[in-house]
Amino acid sequence: DIPVITIDGPTASGKGTLAHEVADALGYQVLDSGALYRVTGLAATRAGLDLSDGEAVAALVPSLQLRFVAGEIWLGEEEVSAALREEATGLMASQVAVHPPVREALTALQHSFRRLPGLVADGRDMGTALFPQADLKVFLTASASTRADRRHKQLISKGISANIESLRADLEARDARDQNRSSSPTRAAADALLLDNSAQTIEQSRDLVLTWWQERRPF
Ligand code: CDP
Repeated sequence: DIPVITIDGPTASGKGTLAHEVADALGYQVLDSGALYRVTGLAATRAGLDLSDGEAVAALVPSLQLRFVAGEIWLGEEEVSAALREEATGLMASQVAVHPPVREALTALQHSFRRLPGLVADGRDMGTALFPQADLKVFLTASASTRADRRHKQLISKGISANIESLRADLEARDARDQNRSSSPTRAAADALLLDNSAQTIEQSRDLVLTWWQERRPF
């Protein structure tokens, strides 16, 4: 039985950071499911596909030459991590993510990340659709202004200038699409524990999740 912790939540809630902190503390693998939607959106755009054509985008998925090496993501001969983190790529991701055939095409790949000694999976539907039997499910939120602020700092630290008001508008638009789509919308599983980290440091959130984990899986 391979342990799984899921962390779902909206854009820029800090899922990725929290997932890595928890995984490092436990020595577990991480699944950044958003990166798979991002790479699909990017590859489809480069191939000139219409992102509203779910069947065409889904048909591209099996041919993607993806490799995950020490925190890097390779698409064919190109290391695409930086390209994947761009806001424009996030938008492509949320456009392809609405299509059930695209979500299906990415299912087996996501399940393959479940390896010993354990997995921390971050995304929108990890606790509801991908790993409904997970041992611990966290639903992470933060206020829209906190999230816009964090995304702004992230971009600035990479030397990218950004307007905080337009960032907030962009992330609210993306959240609305992710919450309102019919297939696997962003949603807390019924048995998820809610964590609002607006006023928490990364260490506080990490320690809270590790405490929950100890309570659930004493070893
Ligand atoms: O953290 P951020 O929202 O910026 O991005 P992400 O987690 O990398 O996800 C990018 C987009 O992929 C989201 O806006 C969703 O539309 C989609 N996604 C999804 O549909 N299901 C997932 N499990 C993960 C991401």
